[in-house]
Amino acid sequence: MKIPKVEITVRSEFSAAHRLHAKGLSDKENAKLFGPCNNKNGHGHNYDLFVTVRGPVDPVTGMVMNLFDLHRIVRDHIFDVVDHKHLDEDLDILGGRTSTAENLAVVFWGIVAEHLREFPGVALAKIRIHESRGNIVEYFGE
Ligand code: NI
Repeated sequence: MKIPKVEITVRSEFSAAHRLHAKGLSDKENAKLFGPCNNKNGHGHNYDLFVTVRGPVDPVTGMVMNLFDLHRIVRDHIFDVVDHKHLDEDLDILGGRTSTAENLAVVFWGIVAEHLREFPGVALAKIRIHESRGNIVEYFGE
């Protein structure tokens, strides 16, 4: 019998501050490009993070992977790191890149992918970030 592949998603909400300020642009250019998001002392978001993995459904357990394990990876290596932090001032996870949701998605991809290595057959499929109700970013690893 063919083993079906299924995607599973865990969701995590965290609160963080940041400032959109591209190092390659002048202060004036940043102010024009990012508007209020360039505010000197930052601003905050309640981020909604969705991490999706894909893999075969184990015929014995009926699971792609244990959701508890995926929750644990996201909690220990993302939530506990970023929650109630200033993404630019308190952390170095972005390596100097602008703290856009796009860049966050790419960074989070790397973190999750690293910890999925111990789950053979399970592939990271998507990182989705809701920066606000109206602003949504998705990254598929390209
Ligand atoms: Ni913002």
